[in-house]
Amino acid sequence: MRVLVLGGTLEARRLSLWLAADPAFHPILSLAGRTRTPQYAGPELRVGGFGGTEGLSRFLHDEAIACVVDATHPFALRMRAAAHEACRARGVPYLRLERPPWRPEAGDRWHVYPDLETALEGVVRSARRVFAVLARNQIHALGSYPQLRFLVRTVEPLERVPANVEAIAMRPPYRFEEDLALLRARAVEALLFRNSGGLGGSAKIRAARVLGLAMHVIEPALPKVEPSVATVAEAYEWLRALRAGRSR
Ligand SMILES: NC(=O)c1ccc[n+]([C@@H]2O[C@H](COP(=O)([O-])OP(=O)(O)OC[C@H]3O[C@@H](n4cnc5c(N)ncnc54)[C@H](OP(=O)(O)O)[C@@H]3O)[C@@H](O)[C@H]2O)c1
Repeated sequence: MRVLVLGGTLEARRLSLWLAADPAFHPILSLAGRTRTPQYAGPELRVGGFGGTEGLSRFLHDEAIACVVDATHPFALRMRAAAHEACRARGVPYLRLERPPWRPEAGDRWHVYPDLETALEGVVRSARRVFAVLARNQIHALGSYPQLRFLVRTVEPLERVPANVEAIAMRPPYRFEEDLALLRARAVEALLFRNSGGLGGSAKIRAARVLGLAMHVIEPALPKVEPSVATVAEAYEWLRALRAGRSR
């Protein structure tokens, strides 16, 4: 069964590898192309946009795709809407792999905001040295807070950053020990991040917890799509059930 896995997350990569190891499936992992040298050892990878809903709809038809698993990042809203709509138009089964958001534990100094602007207002009242994990196009906004020093991390190096920002480029998955060492080395006082959940970025939260740092969490209300599962294992089981239903 030909399965299009819309990626850009660790979960998408894992699901594609699981499917590739099962002769019942032929996964095609699709990436937007934001990372110049993607790390994927699976059989079929395609890179670049489809050309909106129309383009994806054509791709589903031309490539005889039997099912789409949308495992894009929770904040990749355009791709999600296009995938949902193209599948509906073509009658192709769609599944959203939506990893659960991170949640605070007892004792966490966890502050939730609807957007970056209000989050920065919260940060400026309580910290000076901040580890900010944001989208690339949000980094320039940090320049409006010269009284704060920011450390930012991106997968690909940033070409230009505001004067109060130190940028490092690192590839996920990030490890707890490395994040703990990073936060200690830069004497970070607070974390600022979008609540995207998932395996790849949870190490910074565990490290901040150990150090008792404040966590400023951007958590907008995002639209939900159905059907949806929360884990790679559930997505795999859903696909197996779909396939079993078809071969009966
Ligand atoms: N948003 C984030 O913060 C974030 C963080 C980590 C990883 N990512 C990953 O980075 C990619 C781009 O994110 P974004 O926020 O720019 O998404 P977006 O705003 O939803 O998508 C913008 C456009 O990029 C193309 N695209 C997105 N995901 C694609 C995929 N998996 N395969 C092929 N084309 C794709 C589509 O182009 P066409 O219209 O031409 O088809 C889409 O309209 C996604 O794959 C996402 O999973 C995003």
